[in-house]
Amino acid sequence: MYRPTYANIHLAYLKTNLELIKKMIPDKKVVPVIKANAYGHGSVVIMEYLIQQGIDYFAVSLLEEALELREKNKEVGIIILGAISKEQLKIISDNQLDIFVYSNELLNDALESQLPLRIHLKYDTGMHRYGFTNLKAILNAIYQIENHPTVKWIGLATHFATADDNEIYYRHQVEMFKELLTHLPRKPEMIHMSNSASTVIYESMYDFTTHVRVGIALYGLSLEHLNLGLKPVMSLHSHIVQIKKLKKGEFVSYGATYQAKEDEYIGVIPIGYADGWLRVNRDAMVEINHKLYPLVGTICMDAALVKIDQSVQLGAEVILFGGLVSTKDVADHQKTIVYEVCTNISARVPRRYV
Ligand SMILES: Cc1ncc(COP(=O)(O)O)c(C=O)c1O
Repeated sequence: MYRPTYANIHLAYLKTNLELIKKMIPDKKVVPVIKANAYGHGSVVIMEYLIQQGIDYFAVSLLEEALELREKNKEVGIIILGAISKEQLKIISDNQLDIFVYSNELLNDALESQLPLRIHLKYDTGMHRYGFTNLKAILNAIYQIENHPTVKWIGLATHFATADDNEIYYRHQVEMFKELLTHLPRKPEMIHMSNSASTVIYESMYDFTTHVRVGIALYGLSLEHLNLGLKPVMSLHSHIVQIKKLKKGEFVSYGATYQAKEDEYIGVIPIGYADGWLRVNRDAMVEINHKLYPLVGTICMDAALVKIDQSVQLGAEVILFGGLVSTKDVADHQKTIVYEVCTNISARVPRRYV
């Protein structure tokens, strides 16, 4: 690691968050969602660390993500939540990966393949993304799988659209899922609905599920308003690598969009939009020596500029989020959600596991 810009990943906080979540739902098993490089935290390290904490099932979005994890561990369960094509079924079977089957087309491909496959049927109860939308169709899928020699029915799942904002819509989805359960010929090994928000707010009330698929809460982001004690796992750091003294009236960065109002000190931070520190972060606040300073001017591909004072020395550490500035503050500034902030931090930002 050479560059003075990095994301610290606090594994102890991941453990704290996992334990907090497990305490809320002692009878259920947690399936960590580690797609998108574990929301930017580094999926292989996060998986290996969580295995040490007793986790034995993980969820990702893509076959590529699943294969990267399978190469590191042959035993754990790995569910692919996202889209699957017929051509991928052989490699999925060879690597004993679980898949979500969400449509009649994919079901038929799976059955016709005659491959040993591990299937979770996805019921679309209102998200209207992946899933069978029709009760009869999903029951028919169960019937066909149960009578098939190689395809195995492992689980039943749905996914919520509004667990953290619209309770009426959320409850409607739960009721639809419960209705499906009353028609099952038998209970599969895994019945799972909840994402993070549903897990921490509602899951303890349910006796008909076995697992939860938790992403953002494990990383200690989102749900701050519930004061659960979750701790942000990622913080983003850099250092001041050059200091400029600007005279009143001089300009800063591309487009010369910021003009010094007086004689000012400007610090150069070697992080830019190619690192996922997006151009919309102009004018955001960053932390240096426990104080907040404003970014000024256009964010470059590899650098951002901060208006500092004489107390800031060359080499001073800059905390872009995870200190006085939270990931939520950055998300608010970007008019987006914390998921996007942490997944945007690009591959060229080294992750330091601390
Ligand atoms: C199908 C599915 N389940 C669970 C999750 C986890 O969601 P969260 O990060 O809100 O816990 C996701 C994330 O988008 C998902 O797509």
